[in-house]
Amino acid sequence: MKKVLIPTKLDAVARETLNANGSYEVVQDDSQELATLASQHSDTYALIVRSEKVTAEIIDAMPTLKVIIRAGAGYNTIDIKHARSKGVDVMNTPGANANAVAEEVVALMLADARHVVAADASTRAGKWEKKNFMGKEVTGKTIGIVGFGAIGQLVAKRLSGFDVKILAYDPFLSDERARDLGAESVELTDIFAKCDYVSLHMPENDDTRGIINKSLIARMKNGATIINCARAGILNENDLRELKADKGLRFLNDVYPKDEAADQTVTDIADIMLPHLGASTVEANFNAAKRSATQLIGYDEKGIASYV
Ligand code: MLT
Repeated sequence: MKKVLIPTKLDAVARETLNANGSYEVVQDDSQELATLASQHSDTYALIVRSEKVTAEIIDAMPTLKVIIRAGAGYNTIDIKHARSKGVDVMNTPGANANAVAEEVVALMLADARHVVAADASTRAGKWEKKNFMGKEVTGKTIGIVGFGAIGQLVAKRLSGFDVKILAYDPFLSDERARDLGAESVELTDIFAKCDYVSLHMPENDDTRGIINKSLIARMKNGATIINCARAGILNENDLRELKADKGLRFLNDVYPKDEAADQTVTDIADIMLPHLGASTVEANFNAAKRSATQLIGYDEKGIASYV
């Protein structure tokens, strides 16, 4: 039996699918730190994580580890270089969270357009500030999607009912593919110059870190909105801070620079601030759990390593 450690609140379908296969002994425990679990279960074969940080020390604590599965899209929480140096394969479950994140983007846009957060707080405080909360409509606006992968494409699809115009930037996107998906493929600079809303859906890596900088933000229309439900590192928050007030920009944010609650470095510029809830739906948790288990079984049966 191969030991699978799941140190997180992943949907029970992962455990059930692996148990039904008969080749795995599954240990799921979210009551202790991963480091503690790793030393208690040093004979682990596969590790399935959500946002837990998988450091070199954690990998070294499980000498029999063969595969790490990130039940999610991003894998910046995993020391991939070290995993590879130890012969440990790493997989993610791209797309499993996509709809959850796309719906969050729509929720943020509508909430901000109609002052839902501020108007709720004001009304609960006993005020009736109807005149202060004149909103705007999303319908008919131009939406820029930076990164047109699984999530970006679903944002476009979910927004299509609002009769918006979608401009998409993705280095891997052809004009024809964009058209098929209801978008126009444009340069990054055009997204910033032409859109009322710019939604970021790039991974954070050496090519994208800090890519949304002063020269792009300066091109934005006055009153336009930036939405970041991807990774904090792709946006230069100091450049946004410098330009935001003058241009009357809005910033809807689901990421902290360090992905930690204690990090308050963007609360001064965020108009809505969430604790990275993009993938936090029952459905996305189920999808990511199911995919993690079936990918592990496929990996073992067919020997296919899907490197991230
Ligand atoms: C992901 O990478 O899957 C999402 O950003 C969700 C998360 O990290 O919690």
